[in-house]
Amino acid sequence: AEGEVSMREQQQIINVAHRGASAHAPENTMAAFEKGFEMKADYVEIDVQMTKDGELVLIHDTTVDRTTDGTGLVGDFTLEEIRQLDAGSWFGEEFAGEKVPTFEELLDAYRGKVGILIELKAPELYPGIEEKVAEALKERNMDKTANGKIVIQSFNHESVKKSKELLPELPHAVLAGMSWADVTDEQLAEFATYADFFNPNMNIVTPELVESVHTAGMEIYPYTSRSEEQAKHLFDLNVDGIITDYPEHVYYHPVKNH
Ligand code: G3P
Ligand code: CA
Repeated sequence: AEGEVSMREQQQIINVAHRGASAHAPENTMAAFEKGFEMKADYVEIDVQMTKDGELVLIHDTTVDRTTDGTGLVGDFTLEEIRQLDAGSWFGEEFAGEKVPTFEELLDAYRGKVGILIELKAPELYPGIEEKVAEALKERNMDKTANGKIVIQSFNHESVKKSKELLPELPHAVLAGMSWADVTDEQLAEFATYADFFNPNMNIVTPELVESVHTAGMEIYPYTSRSEEQAKHLFDLNVDGIITDYPEHVYYHPVKNH
């Protein structure tokens, strides 16, 4: 009927706080996740890697150099060693003492409170990481969609496939860098056999790509918006969600309009 708005138009765009609200607090720390939660993001995005002794930790780079006061590969630290590092001071003195969080600490703090977009970061370096992530979620009954918003994603598409087999009820996402600018409908259809989202670098998003992803039956949450202009541009491209360092940029369109 005239004036009727579709579900899609009514739906507010999904706001994903990238590595936590990482413009406001040091990325992948409990301070950044808390900021994302306070700012009412729909999801916090986290990067999961594994220590030498097989514990899951949240950190983006495969070395600790940029975001802590230590040096070396994440996978060369034991949990006890990595927990001694300061993951906050580099960002601002008021964050001194922030630690590299564990995956389980994050789950226990935010289960049922905010969605969690879990990135398996460089899983090829950490054999068995998919199983460990699945186990931590299952232990908490977080492997059922009814119990909260959980999505698992990776640039490593074999890893996404493997995780989907371990956690068939959870939605999964394929991450796509710049090299996927010319992704074909056939490739999207293949992704859609195990993924529910195609999450690309924002620089390759066009109206045609958004339409193709939707036609393939997936949603699209591009990364990483770092300005209001970028957020607005992505909104106008009719994406379903925006992965952003600034959750406050994703609120000025309460309802999608076309
Ligand atoms: O969530 C997608 C985005 O985080 C991927 O890029 O490098 O920030 O992990 P990166
Ligand atoms: Ca990430």
